[in-house]
Amino acid sequence: MELDIFQNPYTGLPLHWASAKRQTGLSDANGAFFPLRNGYPNFLAGQKITGLNQKIQQFYDRNGRMAGLLERFFNLFSPIRRQREAWLDGLAIRPGDRVLEVSVGAGWNIRQLPANARYYGMDISSGMLDHCLKNAHRWGVQLNLCQANAEFLPYRDNVFDSVFHIGGINFFNDRGRAICEMIRVAKPGAPIVIIDQTAKDLKKQYRQLVFVRHCLREADVDRSRLYAPAEFVPEEIRDVEVKLLDNGSLYRLSFNKPASIPGRPFCVPNT
Ligand SMILES: C[S@@+](CC[C@H](N)C(=O)[O-])C[C@H]1O[C@@H](n2cnc3c(N)ncnc32)[C@H](O)[C@@H]1O
Repeated sequence: MELDIFQNPYTGLPLHWASAKRQTGLSDANGAFFPLRNGYPNFLAGQKITGLNQKIQQFYDRNGRMAGLLERFFNLFSPIRRQREAWLDGLAIRPGDRVLEVSVGAGWNIRQLPANARYYGMDISSGMLDHCLKNAHRWGVQLNLCQANAEFLPYRDNVFDSVFHIGGINFFNDRGRAICEMIRVAKPGAPIVIIDQTAKDLKKQYRQLVFVRHCLREADVDRSRLYAPAEFVPEEIRDVEVKLLDNGSLYRLSFNKPASIPGRPFCVPNT
């Protein structure tokens, strides 16, 4: 594991290897301790997850297995693999690049990307990360995982050559903070791609997938969030592009991190 890319997501302090309560993990100078779970750091240890994040975390912890089976089924009968590849076209990944997927889920996107880059994935759900580990092993893909909240990324500033996210941001507690975090950890010039469902796609899922209807009541879904959250991208970033994909089922918000945004930090820490 590359220790030098991590930091305490809540304070920004650097981390070192440590042991506590017979567990190995990462610690900072103030004694904060993040244990390893199945070989990856858990930055949610001791944290209270609230609001939508808590609901979604529970949903994926309970239903990750079912989501994995559905994905395998779709892989047999639909062009979803090629679609994932097309969605991420534009990341322009070069050999040796460090690429981060925020909310990696079971890792299906990374499987579609060039094999010669270094891949990092984080997710709020331990259930999904465990599936991701199994998948990566099955596919022979080297993946650096951790459990964390997208609103508090546990990485240092300017470490990734590209950053992408698919399928979770609509229901993050704080979409603006998550976008700032993606920008903070990207290197200057790095492409950032954010994709999620529109209201049209959610409606289709409700119609087609009994398991989605069973797990998430349609009345509980805040439909006012089902659009590209471009308003949270700092206004100094000029190359913001929003496109609809798959007949309007998904939006794709993309831009590049500029060399600098004068006068203010990308993300105000500890808010
Ligand atoms: C629909 S799945 C998409 C997984 C993967 N990106 C893909 O395209 O297959 C949404 C993922 O977002 C994760 N997620 C939701 N809220 C999150 C948060 N606040 N921080 C990190 N991950 C989150 C869920 O645990 C889940 O794995």
